[in-house]
Amino acid sequence: MTVDDIGRVAVLGAGNMGHGIAEVAALAGYEVTMRDVEQEFVADGYENIEWSLRKLAEKDRIEESPEAVLDRLDTTADLAAAVTDADLVVEAAPERMALKREIFAEVEEHTGEGTILASNTSSLSITDIAEAVSDPSRVVGLHFFNPPVKMDLVEVVHGENTAASVAEKGAEFVESLGKTPIHVRKDVQGFVVNSILGPYGGEPAWMVSEGEATIRAADAAMVHERGYPMGPFELADLTGIDVGYHVRTEGGIPVPPIAEEKVEAGDLGRKTGSGYYSYEDGDGADYE
Ligand code: 3HC
Repeated sequence: MTVDDIGRVAVLGAGNMGHGIAEVAALAGYEVTMRDVEQEFVADGYENIEWSLRKLAEKDRIEESPEAVLDRLDTTADLAAAVTDADLVVEAAPERMALKREIFAEVEEHTGEGTILASNTSSLSITDIAEAVSDPSRVVGLHFFNPPVKMDLVEVVHGENTAASVAEKGAEFVESLGKTPIHVRKDVQGFVVNSILGPYGGEPAWMVSEGEATIRAADAAMVHERGYPMGPFELADLTGIDVGYHVRTEGGIPVPPIAEEKVEAGDLGRKTGSGYYSYEDGDGADYE
């Protein structure tokens, strides 16, 4: 069931996270507008949603047809048009503070006071993002995990000035998506999950950079010894090597050379067809 007062959701960004958040919101019954800066990015995100909904339908995991869900989803490249009637805006742009602040300032111009402004940032301070708007009490973090349609947890991040009612509404929204919210009341870098995941991804990347381990060995270790669904390198390929890279550079954390090389080469993971592994021609992570 959808949350009272939230009818229309705008998702800013159609990448891995943006399209996934738009998809789960549409699945839960919200009217959704997904926006990205170029029509081409919006079209890619829309195709990914179509693919995912088809997969879910094939497995009887959704009650409606993909078309019925897609009927609730609009797309646009126009930010003002996306947010004007929204009750909740979820920003899912690249992980750069200056960009996020620019977006929030622009969103504020086109939304009423009652609209909740959420960021899906992985690690940037909600308090700092909220400085871009005149009323920071309506800014909250809603941090989803990749792929949103499959991952159950969402962090509800309180900035220093986030109103308790806004965080509560954010958590209710998360529950209405069938997901589990956890409140992160201290706006620390990386919140709870990425504070733990940072070393999980970083340590093996340093080991590989220094010739102390191979990618396959590190992934096999975590999957076969710890029972994780994927190893740290396969996970980086799923989330995007550039995402972790920006989290580190924005946070002043050194980047392991192997990650830097991949970003410079444009090998960002599944989304570009190769990263730590190749995903061309049906290939995938091969550490089994
Ligand atoms: N929509 C619909 N179907 C999907 C899908 C999607 N988005 N993604 C995968 N599927 C499909 C697959 O195509 C596959 O279909 P098939 O059986 O027809 O081939 C089916 O679902 C099963 O997929 P898998 O066999 O790959 O595996 P599972 O369903 O068992 O698990 C997973 C997939 C949930 C991604 C699991 O591997 C996992 O939990 N991995 C870890 C993910 C994780 O930790 N995410 C958090 C990253 S950190 C983050 O996001 C934070 C950010 O701040 C950086």
